[in-house]
Amino acid sequence: MSTTLEPEGTYEGVPMYHYDNTAGGAVLSHHERWDAIAATHSGFRSSVSHGYWVVTDGTAVQESLQDWRTFSNTSVTALDPEPKFLWIPEMLDPPLHTQWRRLLGREFSPKSVAAREPEIRRIAVELIDGLKDQGGADVLDRFARRFPTVIFLRLMGLPEEDLDMFLEWVHNLLHLSYEEDPDRSRQLAAITGASAYFAEQIALRREKPRDDLLSHAMTWEINGELISDRDLHAFCVLMFQAGLDTVPISVGWALYHFATHPDQRRAILADSSLIPTSVEEILRVYSFVIPARKATKDVEVGGCPVKAGEMVMLPLVVTNRDPARYENPLEVDLTRATSNHIAFGSGPHRCLGSHLARLELNIAIEEWHKRIPDYRIAAGQELEQTGNMYGIKSLRLEW
Ligand code: HEM
Repeated sequence: MSTTLEPEGTYEGVPMYHYDNTAGGAVLSHHERWDAIAATHSGFRSSVSHGYWVVTDGTAVQESLQDWRTFSNTSVTALDPEPKFLWIPEMLDPPLHTQWRRLLGREFSPKSVAAREPEIRRIAVELIDGLKDQGGADVLDRFARRFPTVIFLRLMGLPEEDLDMFLEWVHNLLHLSYEEDPDRSRQLAAITGASAYFAEQIALRREKPRDDLLSHAMTWEINGELISDRDLHAFCVLMFQAGLDTVPISVGWALYHFATHPDQRRAILADSSLIPTSVEEILRVYSFVIPARKATKDVEVGGCPVKAGEMVMLPLVVTNRDPARYENPLEVDLTRATSNHIAFGSGPHRCLGSHLARLELNIAIEEWHKRIPDYRIAAGQELEQTGNMYGIKSLRLEW
């Protein structure tokens, strides 16, 4: 995939490009392409599938995410304005969404998350200790994907032997390009498989509750009623993709960054108090979540004349790499004072798991560098990234 795009003409007076966000490409090609297009456009029309609007003005992206009355979450997939599935809380709008967030907030508060720190550190240490004498590995497979997934399975009270099955579902749900899955049938199969799995786990807990998030959720009331099995499914399906995919992608970018920036690696080795800022900067510079919303009314945003019912893509990366917002926006700056990035989103759907994610990332980087301080990208590797969520596909390091 080239990092430049050729316009295909115009649509309603706005430039149109065949912009396929689901396509993979060379590492960082999506980010570079967004930089190029955001430098000259505040928005454009994508001609992929039925077409959708894309906002590339950093401020407009953030404001649209906050304006839930105009930009609804009833669909969050740019290619599919009428989805046949439901993810809770992601695909709910206020006021129903607000009730869910209040209940979930307790489980993901800074205090609840901090209580898990010793366990999270133990899991990281165990995985890294298992690798450190091997001289090299695909660090995504062997560490980045396993670490948060084990934590997640424990949080939800799910069996750890199901880990590999979960990783495959996440891949089919989130990483397949339009070309690999044009009718989205593989995506639907992953949703159906996960849904059947969760139906079984829910039934087990209805019979005999345990001390886990899923059992707790069964005691919660929304609109004065206990949550139905259907909504519990929708919650589980969202939780497993939100919790299982994002942290691995971020750990992958962090290890990629420090492998390709040895000076910064030496800086965090010499002074570990730089690690929290490095985490925030890596989240900002390598932003990979591309939310989408469905317009509830006709509205103009980023110069695009959006009609009610149309989909609008709101890439966080253009806000997070906006030169009007940050000095040297493409550089990870270990001393940057501002931390107003929107890698965790903005508005009512801002990431529920951000405290957990931050803790996991800080621990991963600290414990990794204590044990494997000196490493490089394995020779001869062509690095690629996935579409949809821009993660590195495979990252072999040597040490
Ligand atoms: C570095 C890791 C992570 C990043 C970058 C990230 C990013 C995001 C973003 C951008 C959103 C908003 C999506 C939108 O506006 O449509 C979001 C929502 C969400 N995230 Fe995360 N996330 C991360 C980790 C996690 C973890 C570990 C969990 C839970 C275990 C989690 C749970 C959620 C949930 C439940 C939502 C939906 C919130 C809602 O709709 O109200 N995330 N995340």
